[in-house]
Amino acid sequence: MTEPQPTPLVVAFTANPSLDRTIALDDQLRRGEVQRAVSITEQAAGKGINVARVVAGSGCQVIAVCGGLDDEYTMLAGRAAEPMPIRGIKLTAEQHVRGNTTVTEPSGVTTKLNGPGPKLSAAQVAEASLLLMDAAEGASWVALSGSLPPGAPVDWYARLVDGLHATGAKIAVDTSDASLDAVLDALPGGYFDLIKPNSDELAQLTGGDAVAFERAAEAGQLDEIVDAATALHARGIANVLVTLGGSGAVLVNAEGAWYASAPKITVASTVGAGDSSVAGFILADVAGKSAAESLASAIAYGSAAASLPGTTLPRPDDLPASPVVCTRLR
Ligand SMILES: Nc1ncnc2c1ncn2[C@@H]1O[C@H](COP(=O)(O)OP(=O)(O)OP(=O)(O)O)[C@@H](O)[C@H]1O
Ligand SMILES: [Mg+2]
Repeated sequence: MTEPQPTPLVVAFTANPSLDRTIALDDQLRRGEVQRAVSITEQAAGKGINVARVVAGSGCQVIAVCGGLDDEYTMLAGRAAEPMPIRGIKLTAEQHVRGNTTVTEPSGVTTKLNGPGPKLSAAQVAEASLLLMDAAEGASWVALSGSLPPGAPVDWYARLVDGLHATGAKIAVDTSDASLDAVLDALPGGYFDLIKPNSDELAQLTGGDAVAFERAAEAGQLDEIVDAATALHARGIANVLVTLGGSGAVLVNAEGAWYASAPKITVASTVGAGDSSVAGFILADVAGKSAAESLASAIAYGSAAASLPGTTLPRPDDLPASPVVCTRLR
């Protein structure tokens, strides 16, 4: 008799979580005046938290790890629809999870005011790193997502990738700007399993032009995007998943290159679309699916997220009815 396989475990790390507050006004925002809000909603948020929610929503085992937590954030996270363990170092009484405030007007205009996040000490960064390594023991995948908090070294993700090699877990990195450059600078020694650049991030990494990438993708001309993704793969990243918004996505790995367009949807809110793509890829991979199926799953989850309102993230029931079709390019 074969032993029952344990449910795969996915660990999602959010270096700089945020407490998102959405303030809805019944009129235009008037600077310098007192206005009443129609509603105020709060949510424990973060890019790794989004990945964790999507993975948990599909019934897979998840641990969410955060750089730093305070009581308010922990309480709000506990109220989320998808119950999941959440770990992180406890911030001091003077430190708080950053607050990101969105003000919405009836016309659809939104204003965002994002907080900087707590300045972590070197000891706190070390403690958070240890918490992550501990959670990653026995995990199938670890995703490192989002921006870094002030005080964290710019190469924190690169150092975490290095430490995570010992766990045997596959590693996904989804970040931007200087922390993304630092992860690339650590290649080939700092090899990992999945990167998910959008057109801006692909341009940043390969010296290309984001607008040109987007126009080419809309026109179905994928050569330059595949070349750029292939160059990244050659540097030591097993799977390069380039997401192209409404134009779909490209996947390059050791077996080849594939493209699939995104299903035609009515976009409600693209919040969490990229994070849902990462989760979709990981969910397919832990289920033993092929590269093309993993690309299709990434697009299905990303597009489902874009079709859902506000910060609502997709569950398996929300996926597009017709399957995403992948074309082999190389
Ligand atoms: N307009 C759209 N129509 C259909 N699908 C979309 C649309 N926008 C995004 N998506 C889906 O979401 C996926 C990820 O989108 P995108 O490339 O914009 O990621 P991103 O810029 O990393 O997003 P994020 O801001 O969440 O990090 C796409 O591959 C696609 O499947
Ligand atoms: Mg993104």
